[in-house]
Amino acid sequence: MTFSVALLCVSDTAAAVPSSDRSLPLLHDILTSQPNDAYRVVAQGIVPDETAEIVENVRTWVHMGVDLILTSGGTGMGTRDRTPEAIAPLIDKPAPGLVVAMLTSSLAITPLAALSRPVAGIAHSPSGDGTGSIIVTLPGSPKAAKENLECLLKVLPHALELAG
Ligand code: MTE
Repeated sequence: MTFSVALLCVSDTAAAVPSSDRSLPLLHDILTSQPNDAYRVVAQGIVPDETAEIVENVRTWVHMGVDLILTSGGTGMGTRDRTPEAIAPLIDKPAPGLVVAMLTSSLAITPLAALSRPVAGIAHSPSGDGTGSIIVTLPGSPKAAKENLECLLKVLPHALELAG
């Protein structure tokens, strides 16, 4: 089974200079190198740390029926960081277990993991059949995004099957 994925980089810097973003190519490589063609990246974008632009992209992908939506960046405590606040209202079923998994494995690597405020969960598709997209907010540095995604790879296929 191949799951569709959309990737959104949330960063004022990357929105101004898209070539400066290294998180999306890295996430793309990790996902597309998983065995059995498990993931296919069907959409990606870069937006500044602006709620409306984050919501517009993610909502479009939920409506398209994308299985997995990953954002990178804007999860920290900076004055412009607002990704979790933008995404949380889109989530119908929170998945705190995914958040705990990311923070637990990240804290074993660096105490700075405590500065990330991730959210994760399922946003139901408008079809009303109960299926939906799993959304996870990853931190923005390539190192941090990679470490957080890698700790989820063992559980994501089963989660995605269940979320439909
Ligand atoms: N998580 C892991 N696994 N590795 C890291 O290096 N960096 C942290 C944290 N999470 C880090 C991590 C740091 S320094 C910050 S500021 C926060 O993620 C938030 O990052 P963001 O604002 O780019 O989303």
